[in-house]
Amino acid sequence: MLEAYREGNPMLSQLPPSRRDFPADDPIFALNTEAQGRAAKGESIINATVGALLDDNGQMVILDTVMDLWRELTPREIAPYAPIAGDPAYLTSMAQRYWPELSHFGTGCATPGGSGALALSIRNFLEPGQAVLTLAPYWGPYQTLAQENGAQVETFPIPEPGHAIEASALMEQARSLLERQGRLLFWLNDPCHNPTGRSTSPAGRAAILGVLRELEHRGPITLLLDLAYLEYAADPAAVMEALQDHARFAAEGKVLVGASLSVSKALTLYGARTGALVFPWTQDAALQAALAMSCRGFFSNAPRAPQSLVVRLARDGKAQARLADEHRHWSEKLKARATALSEALRAEKLPGVPWQGGFFVTLVAENPAEVASKLKDRGVYVVPIEKGLRVGLCGLRAQDTPLFASAYRESL
Ligand SMILES: Cc1ncc(COP(=O)(O)O)c(C=O)c1O
Repeated sequence: MLEAYREGNPMLSQLPPSRRDFPADDPIFALNTEAQGRAAKGESIINATVGALLDDNGQMVILDTVMDLWRELTPREIAPYAPIAGDPAYLTSMAQRYWPELSHFGTGCATPGGSGALALSIRNFLEPGQAVLTLAPYWGPYQTLAQENGAQVETFPIPEPGHAIEASALMEQARSLLERQGRLLFWLNDPCHNPTGRSTSPAGRAAILGVLRELEHRGPITLLLDLAYLEYAADPAAVMEALQDHARFAAEGKVLVGASLSVSKALTLYGARTGALVFPWTQDAALQAALAMSCRGFFSNAPRAPQSLVVRLARDGKAQARLADEHRHWSEKLKARATALSEALRAEKLPGVPWQGGFFVTLVAENPAEVASKLKDRGVYVVPIEKGLRVGLCGLRAQDTPLFASAYRESL
C-alpha cells in the first residue's frame, strides 16, 4: 500500500511546492564524487574540483599544530555547551588573529563556520526578499545561503587582471540598491578570493571603500569581510596591509564593518564547523542582542571544542609560531602549483593565471559547461562557473599541470 502511495506521489507531498525543485546533490560535491569514482576504478584522473588542501599524495593536509592542541583539550573544554553567542575569549582570539592590536572582539557571535556567519549577516542586515551585493564571480554557496535565508544575490564584476575596478559603475549600482532597499549589505571576499585566487590591489580596495564612504549618508551600510583563506597568501604583508586598511575604514565609524571568520581552512578544521561573525570596531548592545537571538533561533550554540582550541592557541606563543611555519609551508606549495600551472598554460600558448592567495584560480572559458564536459572526457575535473572554470590548486599537483594545460587547450 505504501508502494502504491509512493508511485502515485513521485514527489513527497509533505514538501510544500516551494521546497520541491532542488538538485539532489551539491554540484561541486557531485563532480568530486564522480572524479573519485573514476580514479578508484583505476583511471588516470586529475581532480581539481576539491575544496580542501591536499598534499602531493592526494592526502588531506591536517595541520599538526592544531591536532596536537586538539589532543590536549580536557573534557571540560569539549563537553559543555558554549555560551549562546560564543565564548568571548574565543571571539577575541579569532579577531586578534587578523587584527592583533585589538583588545576585544567588539560585538559578535560564534557561528557554524563562515557559512553560519554569512547566513546571520543576511538575517540581521536585510529585510526578507532584499539582495546582498557582492563581486562576481563568487563562491557558489553564496546563492544558496541567500536563498535559504530569504534573500537574493546581486553582483558587480571583478575586473580582468591588470584592469581597475569601475568605481563609478559600482557606485551607481550600490546607490540604486541602497535606494531600493533602504539599506546595503556588501560581502567582500578579499584578499585571497574564491574562486579567482586574486586579491584587490590597494587602489582597487580604496575605490571600493570610497564608494561605500560616499554612499553612507544615503542609508545604513554594512561591509562584511569574508576572510576564509588569508593564511594561504602569496604575500602575507599585502594581506596585513589590506586588513589595516579595513580597520582604518571601520574606525571612521560611518559604515558598519564586520568579518566572517572560520576555522575551516585557517586551522584545517573543516568538520569542526566553527566560525565567527565579529564587528571588532563596534560595541553595540542592540546588535549583540540581535546576533544572540539569531544564534538561539538558528542553531543554538556553535561547537565548544574548537572554540576552546582557538583560546589555547592564542595563549601559546610556541604553537602560534609552529602554526605560522606550517601555513608558510603550504602557502609556498600553493604558490609553486600556481606558478607551474601558469608555466604549463604558457607552454600551450595560453595566458598564465595570476594567483595571490587562497585555494583556487579561475580560467577563462566562453562556454564553461561545455569546456568542463570536454575536460571530463579527458579525465580532468574542474568546476564550471558563470564565466569560467574554477580550478582547485589545493588539489592540483604541480607535476600534473602540463597534462592539465594541454587538456584545457584541447577543450577550448
Ligand atoms: C569564500 C568562502 N567563504 C566562506 C566559506 C565558508 O566556509 P565554512 O563554512 O566551512 O567556514 C568558504 C568555504 O569554502 C568560502 O570559500
